[in-house]
Amino acid sequence: MTEQSDDTTPTIEINYADGIPNNVDLYADRRLQRAMEKWHPKFLDWWNASGPDGFQTADVYLRTAVGVDPKGWAVFDHVKMPDYRWGILLANKIEDRKIGFGRHKGEPAWQEVPGEYRSLLKRLLIIQGDTEPASVEQQRYLGKTCPSLYDLRNLFQVNVEEGRHLWAMAYLLQKYFGRDGREEAEALLERRSGSADKPRLLGAFNEKTPDWLSFFMFTFFTDRDGKMQLESLAQSGFDPLSRTCRFMLTEEAHHMYVGESGVARTMQRTTQAMTEAGVTDPYDIEAVRKLGVIDLPTLQKKVNFHFSVTLDLFGSEISTNAGNAFSAGIKGRFREDSIEDDHQLLNDTYSLLRCINKRLVMVDEPAVNAINARLLDDYISNVESGLKRWNRVLEKTDFDFTIDLPHRAFNRRIGEFSNVSVTPDGEILTTQKWQQQQADWLPSEEDERYLQSLMKPVVERGAYANWIAPPKSGINKKPGDFEYVALH
Ligand SMILES: [Fe+2]
Ligand SMILES: [Fe+2]
Repeated sequence: MTEQSDDTTPTIEINYADGIPNNVDLYADRRLQRAMEKWHPKFLDWWNASGPDGFQTADVYLRTAVGVDPKGWAVFDHVKMPDYRWGILLANKIEDRKIGFGRHKGEPAWQEVPGEYRSLLKRLLIIQGDTEPASVEQQRYLGKTCPSLYDLRNLFQVNVEEGRHLWAMAYLLQKYFGRDGREEAEALLERRSGSADKPRLLGAFNEKTPDWLSFFMFTFFTDRDGKMQLESLAQSGFDPLSRTCRFMLTEEAHHMYVGESGVARTMQRTTQAMTEAGVTDPYDIEAVRKLGVIDLPTLQKKVNFHFSVTLDLFGSEISTNAGNAFSAGIKGRFREDSIEDDHQLLNDTYSLLRCINKRLVMVDEPAVNAINARLLDDYISNVESGLKRWNRVLEKTDFDFTIDLPHRAFNRRIGEFSNVSVTPDGEILTTQKWQQQQADWLPSEEDERYLQSLMKPVVERGAYANWIAPPKSGINKKPGDFEYVALH
């Protein structure tokens, strides 16, 4: 299990009151320092305009990354979010690191941007960088309906760390891409999630995150896409990118933990309330909703939605762009360094599900064109292990209900399956029939209204909204009634 709670985050004592925490010799590179100093106030403007609404003066018990030593890289303290020390931290350099895949395999890793791959690399940084502020924007209003101070703090922890990930990408752009890198770093602060004229670059990052269940599902499913992308970029032959992503992954684990445990606590509370009230049929939605908890069929619909929109983030299953990035040594496969093959894929094939003449069939394709399909497979198996842990919560109850993943072709807008209407079971329907049944598979307006009706803020210390169970343990071993967020 890669998920890690704050509970196990090693802490160190360090004075981080002045300067930007960094291990990139920021203050030795005058040009970079000037660029970051110009960017910093614009970042703060963005944070104040688009970050958590209404909590900028609250003292939040936050984890701040101040170093990269696995034995101690973070400090915990009450901080006002605008004062958070967003730092620039890269995993330690591996001496004599070599490029691990593609046509440059075995050559020394690049410390500067190779000219021939400049635009390819820049594009990848922009896309990764764009997702980081986007999720903060999507979650802007959630604080107002928090189910507890513990959850409120977790939301803000995720938000400030996405902010730091934005810093990480802005750093790479400004350090290695000259003037257009600086312009792109600013553009990352100008696009907005859901905006009509300047939307974020990827579809799922323009969706709304209107309620806390959506937030937990987002961090479980969509942050996990982030993890897969970071894992692939951590393999990069461009060493500064690899080191940046390796450190980002240490923070990312907590985001998925927030999602996984948030949904598990929701299920736990639902089944507990049903048992107490003697409701035996999980499909008796009316009876369950009377208890003020989230019925399991609605949880399943949320899974269907978040899983399918997240799959679209991987891009087309068959992709020459992804193949080019692989062959160039810029973006590897998931944990490339533990795969046993020649890491060049010159004659290899990969078998994947395709949609051919409106039929779903397994086809062998040149492996180098199927990089995205493979990452998607790795993602799905990663999701499945989290789902197993959710289902274990249900197994412990008397209810006969499991949460299942929908078919990968269900509800897709991008890639192989974007032109077919497929049910969660993998059956192809006419578009009309699919639309008629859609409300059985995806949250309906009524479902969303019900979820909204539950979203009432609970801000007393140690208290939790009726629809969610308290966590098993506190953050950084804090007691149950700890003031995770001091509101003013
Ligand atoms: Fe991130
Ligand atoms: Fe994240």
